[in-house]
Amino acid sequence: MAKKQILLNAFNMNCVGHINHGLWTHPRDNSVDYNTLSYWTELAKTLERGLFDGLFIADIIGVYDVYQQSIDLTAREAIQLPVNDPLLLVPAMAAVTQHLGFGVTSNLSYEPPYLFARRMSTLDHLTGGRAGWNIVTGYLDSGARAMGLLTQDEHDQRYDRADDYLELLYKLWEGSWEDEAVRRDKAARVFADASRIHRISHQGPFYQLDGYHLCEPSRQRTPVLFQAGSSDRGQLFAARHAEGIFIAAQDKDKTRQLVQDIRRQAWPPAAVAMT
Ligand SMILES: Cc1cc2nc3c(=O)[nH]c(=O)nc-3n(C[C@H](O)[C@H](O)[C@H](O)COP(=O)(O)O)c2cc1C
Repeated sequence: MAKKQILLNAFNMNCVGHINHGLWTHPRDNSVDYNTLSYWTELAKTLERGLFDGLFIADIIGVYDVYQQSIDLTAREAIQLPVNDPLLLVPAMAAVTQHLGFGVTSNLSYEPPYLFARRMSTLDHLTGGRAGWNIVTGYLDSGARAMGLLTQDEHDQRYDRADDYLELLYKLWEGSWEDEAVRRDKAARVFADASRIHRISHQGPFYQLDGYHLCEPSRQRTPVLFQAGSSDRGQLFAARHAEGIFIAAQDKDKTRQLVQDIRRQAWPPAAVAMT
């Protein structure tokens, strides 16, 4: 029988209380130091020493304010509040490791794709190609309100928007700069060849763009894409785009069924427009 390889992925969040609520009060728990660089650099070094392949950092935009219509419990128990930006942790952790990958959660609903494309490319440059993105569309109305909206988009429409967002990002990451565009030729005084840098035009249902990607190609161009959709629409999105899919399954039969469903939808791979 062919040997199977297990990849180990740690799971954390840039906050005090991620999912094991109350654990932060344990005498040997140091989650309250989440807002220091050393907490993260030590974690990264420990994971690499322990042969972990990646660290996955969850994130939310918004607060849990539905229970008793307040944030009282959320704040007292530090339930994903306060929550700092996950992306900013990565360069520091990359600097003290060599192999560890970083999967950063980012909610695309509130991020203009042009700017997000640059941030992820920058992260991929600085990590030498160890950047990943857990694509989420959000689930908190409190986040939508904080961003000036009345409520979130309806559930399936969030994934329609996400499909358009990803189409646009692929164009920027994969299609704007050719591999040979960057010459770095000091003697000839030519850094890049403009004829190999392409203007991207995107006229999608949700996003329109006319411009050049701001970054030269990074090691991966498109970072490793993770997703965790579990609804029919979420699974379809995940099957189309993700390279790694998080599933929350309760027993073997359901897990088998879920994996089969996702595989069926993922194959043959959907064609991605590059023009
Ligand atoms: C392991 C795992 C991690 C997840 N991490 C996040 C996260 O960090 N932020 C977030 O907004 N949603 C997160 N989600 C929620 C999913 O993105 C997704 O919205 C959820 O599974 C419901 O599926 P649906 O969107 O298809 O309804 C996570 C889900 C799972 C199973």
